[in-house]
Amino acid sequence: MEVLVTGGMGYIGSHTCVQMLQAGITPIIIDNLSNAKVGVLARIEALTGKMPVFHQGSVQDEAFLDSVFAKHDIKAVIHFAGLKAVGESVEQPLEYYDNNVNGSLVLARAMRKAGVKSIIFSSSATVYGDPKVIPITEDSPTGATTNPYGRSKYMVEECFKDLFHAENDWSITLLRYFNPVGAHHFGTIGEDPQGIPNNLMPFIAQVAIGRRDRLSIFGNDYPTPDGTGVRDYIHVMDLAEGHIAALNVLREKTGLHIYNLGTGKGSSVLEMVDAFAKACGNQVPYVICPRRAGDIAECWASTDKAERDLNWKATRSVKEMTVDTWNWQSNNPNGY
Ligand code: WQD
Repeated sequence: MEVLVTGGMGYIGSHTCVQMLQAGITPIIIDNLSNAKVGVLARIEALTGKMPVFHQGSVQDEAFLDSVFAKHDIKAVIHFAGLKAVGESVEQPLEYYDNNVNGSLVLARAMRKAGVKSIIFSSSATVYGDPKVIPITEDSPTGATTNPYGRSKYMVEECFKDLFHAENDWSITLLRYFNPVGAHHFGTIGEDPQGIPNNLMPFIAQVAIGRRDRLSIFGNDYPTPDGTGVRDYIHVMDLAEGHIAALNVLREKTGLHIYNLGTGKGSSVLEMVDAFAKACGNQVPYVICPRRAGDIAECWASTDKAERDLNWKATRSVKEMTVDTWNWQSNNPNGY
């Protein structure tokens, strides 16, 4: 079965393509390579023995999308393509809404033209904003997010909800990721952010490998056990397998399907620093800094719905997340 994977050369996309190939599903990858390297293809082939089909181009280019749908017998779409740096989104809102919102609308139009009405959308726990109740369930309120990146994810969710209410022959799945971290255990694919990492784990990894002097911990005065922010970190391989589960269960099931993809457990910044120090065998130097604007104190997922409906549960530990991240970073000190 051929499945279009937009942004399939990126961090989560490439790990998902590896697991798709292992599961006998054929990914048709499109990516504009704005935040990925074409060398990832050879890494995917080395891991799976299969060279994925890749077309370079943008989800905003409808003619390009039409040509890809015409070349292949695509049965469903997994839509990862999008910009995802919170800080950058504040400085460049137009680019974020153009890429993330307009790109999703162009993709949906091209899908409809091609008669493909099954999509899994890469959404984010950021759509919940600052949760009043934890763990966060899928029917928790959404929309109170504090930056253009988060708002773009929320807007795309709302567009897909309205699309389903107008055309209920679609299968639309919204997967809300908590905090994706880690790498394939072979250490040949992983997270390779361009420039200064926004997210905690790649920053810690770059400190550990010597590319950065120290980690800035954004606040230790939160109402949490050790004062630092608490998040639900999920191994990217668990996340990839969650997509396969969603594809298998929901591809032909019309409806609007919304699932959290998390572990249901929270870890603090200091706990992650400590786990990483154990994984790499070195201390990770850090300095306590003021809180980062827009950060929330804590959040973690209720995972009951995904476990029940998708028969999927994250299994990899924080130790595996940090060991696999260190394995990737130490094998690839400068990324791809
Ligand atoms: C985690 C914790 C920081 C960096 C965002 C998006 C989400 C997803 C993941 C894309 C917080 C602290 C971080 C650093 C630090 N986006 N931190 N020093 O903000 O929970 O989520 O990224 O996939 O949609 O909202 O993730 O990794 O940036 O921060 O102290 O240098 O680490 O304050 O407590 P976040 P994060």
